[in-house]
Amino acid sequence: VQDLLSDPILAGTSVVITAGGTREPLDPVRFLGNRSSGRQGVALAQAALAAGADVTLIATHLEVQVPHGVHLVHASSALELREAVFEHAPGKDVLIMNAAVADFRPAKIENSKIKKRDEHSAPVIELVRNPDILAEVVQARSENSQLPEFIVGFAAETGDDQGTVLDYGRAKLQRKGCEMLVVNEVGANLTFGQETNTIQVLFADGSEAVPAAGSKLEVARVVIEQISHATKGHKR
Ligand code: CTP
Ligand code: CA
Repeated sequence: VQDLLSDPILAGTSVVITAGGTREPLDPVRFLGNRSSGRQGVALAQAALAAGADVTLIATHLEVQVPHGVHLVHASSALELREAVFEHAPGKDVLIMNAAVADFRPAKIENSKIKKRDEHSAPVIELVRNPDILAEVVQARSENSQLPEFIVGFAAETGDDQGTVLDYGRAKLQRKGCEMLVVNEVGANLTFGQETNTIQVLFADGSEAVPAAGSKLEVARVVIEQISHATKGHKR
């Protein structure tokens, strides 16, 4: 895995990576957001660059520096991210959807700042569903061969009495229809924002890679390695 830094296993491959977390506007000064720092997505960009890929990073509110050498595109809300993905994914070999996309957004964006009207009342915020960008790109690909042949999703899952992390991962992979899903096990000792990550890589053909654990960069290298293996001979 260490050697991957100098091994150009993705030379000649173009990769689009979404990273960070979307912000869903409420009014000119407020938004609904999530805690994604973008660290994993930026680590993926680093690992892909080191592997010789041409990297486009679609960044939504990163808390970390972007590596030199990526083509950087900014987006804020889920709807903007969707536009950016449909603008930049065509013609690329691989799409990695790592951004934490808000599932819901405020139904209405107020033109002016929401005010306290009287002593006690508080507004009720109505939410609507955001589009599922990953599932949409997969769907759209059946009519647009320019969209990436290899599409990767990320999912943070916890097991419960209804199923294991892998059960939920498999079901999600099927729902999305993408080629590969990186399942991040979250839970008791394996929490969000922590240094060590445990991942399982699942493929649409039913196969899976051996589980991997490590820093975000180590995990990113494993993911890039898996993508390289899986896309051999599929370059444009
Ligand atoms: N995703 C997306 N668009 C959305 C939500 C998620 O493209 N509106 C992508 C994420 O970038 C990720 C994958 O879908 O690659 C899985 O995200 P996740 O939140 O785990 O899946 P959901 O379908 O939203 O399921 P859940 O109800 O468990 O949140
Ligand atoms: Ca979600």
